[in-house]
Amino acid sequence: MLEIATKVHDEARQGEAFAPFANDPNKYQRRFYIESYGCQMNFSDSEIVASILNGEGFGATRNFEDADLILLNTCSIREKAEQTVRKRLTEFKKLKQSRPSLLIGVLGCMAERLKSKFLEEEKLVDIVVGPDAYRALPQLITEADGGQKAVNVLLSREETYADISPVRLNSNGITAFVSIMRGCNNMCTFCVVPFTRGRERSRDHQSILKECAELFEAGYKEVTLLGQNVDSYYYSSEGSQPVTFAQLLEMVALISPDLRVRFSTSHPKDITDDVLHTMAKHENICKYIHLPLQSGSTRVLQLMNRSYSREWYKAKVERIRELMPDCGISSDIIAGFCTETEEDHQDTLNLMEFSQYDMSYMFFYSERPGTLAQRRYADDVPEEVKKRRLQEIVEMQNGLSLKSNQNDLGKTFKVLIEGTSKRSELHWMGRSSQNKVIVFAKESYDLKPGDYVHVKVNDCTQATLLGEIVVN
Ligand code: SAH
Ligand code: SF4
Ligand code: F3S
Repeated sequence: MLEIATKVHDEARQGEAFAPFANDPNKYQRRFYIESYGCQMNFSDSEIVASILNGEGFGATRNFEDADLILLNTCSIREKAEQTVRKRLTEFKKLKQSRPSLLIGVLGCMAERLKSKFLEEEKLVDIVVGPDAYRALPQLITEADGGQKAVNVLLSREETYADISPVRLNSNGITAFVSIMRGCNNMCTFCVVPFTRGRERSRDHQSILKECAELFEAGYKEVTLLGQNVDSYYYSSEGSQPVTFAQLLEMVALISPDLRVRFSTSHPKDITDDVLHTMAKHENICKYIHLPLQSGSTRVLQLMNRSYSREWYKAKVERIRELMPDCGISSDIIAGFCTETEEDHQDTLNLMEFSQYDMSYMFFYSERPGTLAQRRYADDVPEEVKKRRLQEIVEMQNGLSLKSNQNDLGKTFKVLIEGTSKRSELHWMGRSSQNKVIVFAKESYDLKPGDYVHVKVNDCTQATLLGEIVVN
């Protein structure tokens, strides 16, 4: 329970991405079913995989019992994430026992981490594909159809899938994720991502702009530019000027003032004044920054190899508030990293208070095989201490989230309507620029998802703002 992010906005897009879009049942010979775990990068990759599979005559199904091919796009970030996938696999393996022609494939970070070991550990898995090898899927499926065990976990220095148009899975038709880079070079000591996703590389800006413009033409009103560390986006090609993240952000913002632009994730060490100024300059670049702190103790930050100190982080938060007083800020926090003392923990709590986060994803430290921390340091904070500290962090954030929402009472926000509220047919659900979920009565206005509307906040919970439409 505590493992997972606590304040997930309660109306927010959640977890699983199941395949399904209306597709012509006669167009495809076989069906695939895909489930995604982990970060948005994985969800975005599943859309690339869907595109590759469509090209191979596979149509998507929402029902795994109808599938000829079941794919799990997996995450390795914490041990619990891997356990979840293993549990799910046992269910699919039962199905395979009764239907041997069914193919089961494991994609993503867990595939990369375990490689062919996966096939030994998890009998009845047919295909193992790492995040940079999805173009090989057709070939691997053919091999698996022929009874071979098919594996491709090669990491690439170049692959960005730039030319592949993702098939939007489970989409609301209004908001979409656009991958702008892959991999990570940061080597935070706790983190498995540099090992599962390989070296950092940026995608050609032209292909990003084309994808965003096409989304807008298709009726989408919001794009989130995705990468493990978007601020280090840097695309250079012979004969043209290199493009930085600030420049890319501006180019996307200029597609249309009616297209909202978000991005995730920023590494505090890399977010520049240029990016902040660009955000401030364009109304349609959302005033929201996810700025993972991890720990509030300079000593622990050093052990984590985060390359900023407590003071440096505080200065960054102050700079954001100075340039954009209305900017939302959220964070990721790890409790109980190696050697963490009570004093370090208190440093985290009071830096959270200083930053006044609107929301945080909070975890206790989970040692990952092969990471620098696992090789260098002992995982020496007892589990009950980790959990108690996490609980304190969660309580701190709950208080900050409520306070942040209470501060919005009486204010009016421009909201992009994403759809009908899950709780009531009579209400819309949308988001403010600050990424807060706002629920409000539809009343008799002629509105639809994708419309912008001004909403005055008149009530709130810790997770959601409640308001009413104001006509201006
Ligand atoms: N690239 C992003 C984060 C990717 S992982 C960034 O740098 O911010 C998402 C979050 O998972 C991290 O920010 C961190 O808080 C958490 N995390 C990563 N490895 C972890 C581990 N071994 N144990 C617990 N939490 C971890
Ligand atoms: Fe992991 Fe650090 Fe890279 Fe984020 S920046 S993916 S935490 S190594
Ligand atoms: Fe998980 Fe891989 Fe993302 S480890 S968090 S799916 S990059």
